[in-house]
Amino acid sequence: MVLVSAGIGATPVLAMLYALAAARSTRPVLWLHAARDRQHHPFAAEVRRVMLALTNGRSYVCYSRPGSRDKMGEGFDATGHLSRSVLDVVGIPREADVYLCGPPRFMADMKEAFAALDVAPQRIHVEIFNGSEPMTPGVVGAATRAPHLPKDDANTGPLVSFARSGIAVHWKPSAYQSVLELAEACDVPARWSCRTGVCHNCESGLISGVVAYLPQPLEKPADGNLLVCCSQPIGDVVIDL
Ligand code: FES
Repeated sequence: MVLVSAGIGATPVLAMLYALAAARSTRPVLWLHAARDRQHHPFAAEVRRVMLALTNGRSYVCYSRPGSRDKMGEGFDATGHLSRSVLDVVGIPREADVYLCGPPRFMADMKEAFAALDVAPQRIHVEIFNGSEPMTPGVVGAATRAPHLPKDDANTGPLVSFARSGIAVHWKPSAYQSVLELAEACDVPARWSCRTGVCHNCESGLISGVVAYLPQPLEKPADGNLLVCCSQPIGDVVIDL
């Protein structure tokens, strides 16, 4: 199984890595990741820790522009982009199942590279790296802005990271009643309808961390998810928005 990602595209394949580790999988697993440098290498320590639970796991990380303090062998294995030549170096069997997530250009290049190694198209799975369309009933004609930090980021308090939007912001209980309100303050695209924990239209992935609910939702979200409309972070959280 080959889990391939670039940047924050690591999010969905990291969930797969966790599932393999939880199942104590003995399957050969190769983690391939591309980042700019150590500063822009998400979940690096987490991946190393989860990989320890896999008896046949290995990883190979490329930094396109390592920082002056980045040393090869410490967090990354090669300088440059993930490319066909890297796939040759790491060795990809034709019967590999490949899971890909990253920017569109990266995914197109990788699909081509795996196809050139005779990996059958039905074995190459991709996750399109876009958030879902926002659902905001009653809001008409609002200008769309790129996600940004709010004007009044607190600098203290739990850190709420909106992984797909690349925004990390501090939770300020006096300013926001829910994670959804914080997302809106940052123009992070989010879906909602009832805003009171009933419809589950705001259900999103909770990649790490714990939240509390006020008000309590009618039904709990699925394991690994949260309802952003009625939750508040307890400590740092990473959310798939
Ligand atoms: S918006 Fe309905 S449950 Fe969150």
